[in-house]
Amino acid sequence: MKITTIILAAGKGTRMRSELPKVLHKIANRPLLQHVYDMSRHLENNRIKIVIGHGAELVTETLKELDASWIEQKQQLGTGHAVQQVSDQIADDDTVLILYGDVPLLKLATVQQLLKNVNSQSLALLTVNLENPTGYGRIVRDATGKVTKIVEQKDASDSEKLITEGNTGILAVHGDKLKQWLNRLGNNNAQGEYYLTDVIEMAVADGINIITSQAETEDEVLGVNNRLQLSHLERVYQQQQALELMEQGVTLIDPARFDLRGTIEQLGQDIEIDINVILEGKNSIGNNVRIGANTQIKNAIIGDNVEILANCIIEDAVIGDNSRIGPFARLRPESVLANDVHIGNFVEIKKSTVAQGSKINHLSYIGDTTVGSKVNIGAGTITCNYDGVNKFRTIIEDGAFIGSDTQLVAPVTVGKNATIGAGSTITRDCPENQLTLSRVKQFSLSGWQRPVKQEK
Ligand code: UD1
Ligand code: CA
Repeated sequence: MKITTIILAAGKGTRMRSELPKVLHKIANRPLLQHVYDMSRHLENNRIKIVIGHGAELVTETLKELDASWIEQKQQLGTGHAVQQVSDQIADDDTVLILYGDVPLLKLATVQQLLKNVNSQSLALLTVNLENPTGYGRIVRDATGKVTKIVEQKDASDSEKLITEGNTGILAVHGDKLKQWLNRLGNNNAQGEYYLTDVIEMAVADGINIITSQAETEDEVLGVNNRLQLSHLERVYQQQQALELMEQGVTLIDPARFDLRGTIEQLGQDIEIDINVILEGKNSIGNNVRIGANTQIKNAIIGDNVEILANCIIEDAVIGDNSRIGPFARLRPESVLANDVHIGNFVEIKKSTVAQGSKINHLSYIGDTTVGSKVNIGAGTITCNYDGVNKFRTIIEDGAFIGSDTQLVAPVTVGKNATIGAGSTITRDCPENQLTLSRVKQFSLSGWQRPVKQEK
């Protein structure tokens, strides 16, 4: 079977009240249209065609990586008119699948079921049974239960409005048939639009069976028209992901307070994630990892037995096995920590490597630095890596001990097993194995008196 998937995405989305075209609004930090595309990419032998209109330029620019052809519908004259724009690109022997750029949670299994129902004698239609079908096209059936047509809400009679089976708009049909029907669409209806739904009645007249199927849940076929619906589908999507992770053996202390806005490419065993953790981008998490509350992680590679305590922000970083991070630590891009590293509270690391067993436990800034193994960096240590124009590197060799409140003015090297006395401002390289101090010598003045306030 050769499939042409047509994704309709030309609508404005007035009710979003946004400058951004509707299909670029995001669920889990991925545009709605991208969700639909990613799902349909899993269909074999499939060409994807996307009909765009409002904000067409921004849509194609934002999603230029997609392997799809873009078709512009200059005026939005209805769903039938939208599909007509692709007519000349549909081969007779194609199976045409119609999807919507603002219906992001449709599942592959549902589409595969739909595609099983299509052949030269049948059109496959996805319908949904709704408690409140207001706004939907209604599926009209005859006495034997056969679908005869779809009637839009605005064209429906009072009795048709009582029908609770709604049209999702999602359908599959052979190309030759669809093209004939598209040619015959009119716009003589309440909205003056070319309705795609009118092809159903034409199909029936041509002796084609309409075979309906349903999605597992209503959420799968819900479209986004406003921000409330967007937030609803975000929650649904997050719940699905949370469920999948728990099935894969992750403990989520509260699945309702966990957000994955990206992927976990490698997932270890016995991971425990506390509340309000946000994972973004591409991540990998090893075995026995614990992630504390209110932590944000983006593009991180986390080894085994790592403990990330509460309130950390981690981005583009690598954390080695048995390391402990936080609470309140920030690992900025290009932070690479080896095994057994401790990064404590109010410590910021940027573009630095920290070798095995080193500790930076309190209140420090380490930027553009190479830290050796078994180094101990005292509280309040700052690498002064920036002169306002240029950035310079600091090198701290194995076994060094940096006393508290030290400023390391880069470029500078602290030698192997060197010790730096607390409160030093280091501007020159520190030799191996020696104590280096730059602190003013302490002295005391005897007989010195504090100024005294004069009584008036
Ligand atoms: C459509 C269906 C209705 C169904 C409902 C499900 C028709 C005539 N009606 O109604 O039976 O119950 O969807 O949500 O098909 N679009 C374009 N170009 C256009 C018009 C629409 O690309 O000229 C796109 C929109 O961006 C949107 C989708 O098609 O993604 C549906 O359009 P919309 O106007 O929302 O259709 P409904 O009136 O809701
Ligand atoms: Ca709609």
